[in-house]
Amino acid sequence: MRGLRLGVLGSGQGSNFVALAKAIERDRIPAEIVWVGSDRAEAKILEHAKKLNLPRVVCRKSNFRTKLEPEIEEELALALEKARVDLLVLAGYMRVVKDPLLRKFEGRMINIHPSLLPAFPGLRAWEQARMAGVKEAGCTVHWVNSQVDGGEILRQETVPVLAGDSAESLHGRIQEAEHRCLPQVVRGLAEGKIPWSEDPRK
Ligand code: GRF
Repeated sequence: MRGLRLGVLGSGQGSNFVALAKAIERDRIPAEIVWVGSDRAEAKILEHAKKLNLPRVVCRKSNFRTKLEPEIEEELALALEKARVDLLVLAGYMRVVKDPLLRKFEGRMINIHPSLLPAFPGLRAWEQARMAGVKEAGCTVHWVNSQVDGGEILRQETVPVLAGDSAESLHGRIQEAEHRCLPQVVRGLAEGKIPWSEDPRK
């Protein structure tokens, strides 16, 4: 089977994007990042993508903070289709994905979230975990559906919450886990070891 063509959408630092790109190279994952997009022109993920010479897309300014207008999502979907993206990876993308993007990439979109879902969906999940006093935190990679952080779970990794952890130190430990977990899921999907509802390459 041919390699998986990946699109990555992010709003921030892009450390998951970098970890994924490195893992694909280092661990010979049969996948290729072919498209990188962001809702923020100043997002660091775009700088990282530039260094790797990857095509980058910044979407038009939105009037919303937590989602995009359907027309803007339509433009993104068209760009992704033009790039023949099989799987869309949300790596720190801070807007809720709705239709039409959700419909076009149904069963072909995954997200990384910094908690052990279903615990602590939403923003600053590591801070929520710390405040709740749990002893274990972690990350989750899941399929994206219309429920925020609610799609089927594909993989999780647990990290300890240590006495004296600050929000930053805990988030840092969770991010190290994210950088392992996301490439593992991409590998599983690329190799057909994690089931798809419909593998786009068939
Ligand atoms: C990650 O912690 C991810 O779980 C969350 O946003 C953060 C993005 O980090 N959704 P980065 O941009 O990949 O560094």
